[in-house]
Amino acid sequence: LGRPLLHYQTIDSTNLEARRLAEAGAAHGACLCAEHQSAGRGRLGRAWQAPVGASLLFSLLLRPVDLPVDLVFLLNNVVSLAVCRAVEGLCGLRAMVKWPNDVFLDGRKLVGVLTEFTCRADRIDHVVVGAGLNVNWSPEDLAMLPAPAASLLAASGRRWDRAVLLAAILRQADALYASLLAGQLEALRDEYQRQSLLLGRQVTIDDGGALVGGQVAGFEPDGALRLSTGPGRVRIVRHGDVSLK
Ligand code: BTN
Repeated sequence: LGRPLLHYQTIDSTNLEARRLAEAGAAHGACLCAEHQSAGRGRLGRAWQAPVGASLLFSLLLRPVDLPVDLVFLLNNVVSLAVCRAVEGLCGLRAMVKWPNDVFLDGRKLVGVLTEFTCRADRIDHVVVGAGLNVNWSPEDLAMLPAPAASLLAASGRRWDRAVLLAAILRQADALYASLLAGQLEALRDEYQRQSLLLGRQVTIDDGGALVGGQVAGFEPDGALRLSTGPGRVRIVRHGDVSLK
């Protein structure tokens, strides 16, 4: 992954550009990164903003032709876990995944991941996994966000080279992607579970309709969350926004 590696000074959104390239026939593996996005996109139609040059903003274009559509969400987990491994290996900081698609540091959001995919004739044509990682954000930069957030600079007291970080993430994503395609779903799930901020915690999940409360009992091999809602009652949740109690 990461070949070719495309670098933009300014782009509307690396996810949008990756999708345009995919529709023009670009091959599997491209990585697009930008210093600045004029229309950065978050989940649920939200905007994604970052001070110029302080974040690692990148998107991967993937063509997992043989991956069943119902496992597409695992590509999100491949990238989240790759970020956790790289941040731990390089910076010595314990990053945790917060289902469905954030990475947290010390209880605050460090990374947002946005996965978008296109099918053709019921098969995956291409998937774009984009991530925005708060690398060299100062405490003042972080204070401008509506919710508490983390950065590697604020957590470690030093600045980090984003190219070195991206290279480490791509190396880890390569290994995790290979194990996904090899069908090692339980190994991936076990790593996700070990890295989970939510495992064992009491949460409320807004699944777009109702609020559901319970204790996070674990995760399914396809990435869904297992919520224990009472004695002997488990609910499988496939999407939603999670609040910790
Ligand atoms: C979220 O937490 O809402 C997901 C945020 C994803 C942001 C990244 S930044 C790089 C890529 N390009 C985008 O427009 N969005 C993703």
